[in-house]
Amino acid sequence: MAGQIPTQFIDELLARVDIVDVIDARVPLKKAGKNLHACCPFHNEKTPSFTVSPDKQFYHCFGCGAHGTAIGFLMEYDQLSFPEAIQDLADMVGMTVPTTQQVNLTPAKQNLYDLMDKVGRYYVHQLHNHPQRQPFLDYLKQRGLSAKTIETFGLGMAPEGWDNVLKTFGNNPQLTKQLLDGGLLIKNDKGRTYDRFRNRVMFPIRDRRGRVIGFGGRVMDDSTPKYLNSPETPIFHKGTELYGLYQARKANRRLERILIVEGYMDVIALAEHGVTNAVATLGTSTTADHLRLLLRAAPEVVFCFDGDQAGRDAAWRAAENALPMLGGNQQLKFMFLPDGEDPDSLVRGQGPEAFNRRVQLAQNYSDFFFETLSGRVDINSMDGRARLVEMTKPYLKHVPAGVYRDMLEQRLAELSKTNLATLNRHLEKPAQPARKPVKKPTMATMTPIRMAITILLQYPILAREIEDIAVIRQSQQPGVNILADLVETLHQHPHLTTAALLERWRDKENGAHLQKLALQPLSLSADALKHELTGIISRLSREAKEQRLEYLDSKPLSELTDAEKAEYRSLRG
Ligand code: CTP
Ligand code: MN
Repeated sequence: MAGQIPTQFIDELLARVDIVDVIDARVPLKKAGKNLHACCPFHNEKTPSFTVSPDKQFYHCFGCGAHGTAIGFLMEYDQLSFPEAIQDLADMVGMTVPTTQQVNLTPAKQNLYDLMDKVGRYYVHQLHNHPQRQPFLDYLKQRGLSAKTIETFGLGMAPEGWDNVLKTFGNNPQLTKQLLDGGLLIKNDKGRTYDRFRNRVMFPIRDRRGRVIGFGGRVMDDSTPKYLNSPETPIFHKGTELYGLYQARKANRRLERILIVEGYMDVIALAEHGVTNAVATLGTSTTADHLRLLLRAAPEVVFCFDGDQAGRDAAWRAAENALPMLGGNQQLKFMFLPDGEDPDSLVRGQGPEAFNRRVQLAQNYSDFFFETLSGRVDINSMDGRARLVEMTKPYLKHVPAGVYRDMLEQRLAELSKTNLATLNRHLEKPAQPARKPVKKPTMATMTPIRMAITILLQYPILAREIEDIAVIRQSQQPGVNILADLVETLHQHPHLTTAALLERWRDKENGAHLQKLALQPLSLSADALKHELTGIISRLSREAKEQRLEYLDSKPLSELTDAEKAEYRSLRG
């Protein structure tokens, strides 16, 4: 697949993007010598072993062995496919990816994206042109939305009628099938097909990249259902999408905090009042996937729930789902709204400042966690406190080992008026993170060819010290071809970084091997490495020449071709 995005484009992209910016926006980095470091986002640790090298444009965790380029980081951290990671980076530096659309999508999916986009624009067009648009415009106005916000969120209208979309977009059976696949039509038992969304205000749902993947539609009166949503389709999965994330990322160069609210209108009303960092789940509870996505999008995530029992229950479910993700650099908080209010009504009634003050006062995860659990027992009795310990145990088991978990245990000890030693005898220790630390191979155990490859990968600039490389291909030693390929690539493209080189080998047989070599600690000075490299190459070419001469010598003169004769002379000379 990678092959379909031109290598040159990837080189150019990696030359423009700085891995430090990419990672720092997600995991704040600190300077440490010529590199930068942080606590590793891929495993739990107390002291930073996650290192980013601006020179190599490469990251590496000495603790768990995670490593890669800016592209690899996005794939792992943002859970993107290769083409998606390329796309995100390209967006960052304003480059246009050639042929991505064909690269990452099956034609069927691409057609669906195109279709959703067209239908979304149709709904918008109706809102501004349809003869019966006035009640829709009045409704949006009555909900306090300005033209700008309506545009930002792409709101539209599905006119009254059974077949507006069907007639406009479903002129042949194939198109009708696409409309069905996209969830825009409903087929009833009698086989009749009609528009899903009729006489509703339309909210397009976009993915993180801004593509329309589904719709929500709201009635303008008290009829039911109040909201109708697209069903799950090949491109729309409620459990992994968040309404408003695209707009929030667009409105904020860097999201310091994300608010998670319940409804479409909450997100939009908040944005109308300048609170542009809210997202909503799509009528489902917050899944672990949502949480992962959120924690990656911002260092602080604040859940905003109704203050009633249903809101508290939903908050607890979110808290449970978050247990395995606790203890990173990110903060999870909870805020509860006064009875009968939602963010929409609050921000409209009291203004954004008052709303933001509430956000500031949001409860820490640990406070909410222990408040909820203690609320279930009589904390003033010994029996109640014993129950609290028993009840908390299974939850703590899911929290990754680390400072945060230790602190939760400490807190439990305080609350239950016991001590940590007693408690520890009863708490099950969770398994340590699964990744094993990388073995550190030493320079001493490397073959010369591996050594040369390693040096070149880490100091690509040294390729200019090497002149003739073709001859070493004659050598029978394993790895010579990779070495020669590397040198030739660098001769043609002298400015490639370690990262760019590794990306060229991503999908090749030896890609993973090269990544390992790129991590090999090289304890020599740059000068000594240069010496080492040129030494290895000249030994290799000498050996290769000798082998070749031996071979040519072994053949009777009469059997040598003219080319071989010429080669013989040049090798001798
Ligand atoms: N929802 C839904 N289907 C419904 C009701 C609600 O999918 N029949 C989802 C929608 O995503 C909605 C969210 O749940 O945005 C919250 O619902 P609710 O609190 O009832 O509505 P509000 O967001 O307050 O909507 P409004 O302010 O427009 O009445
Ligand atoms: Mn509401």
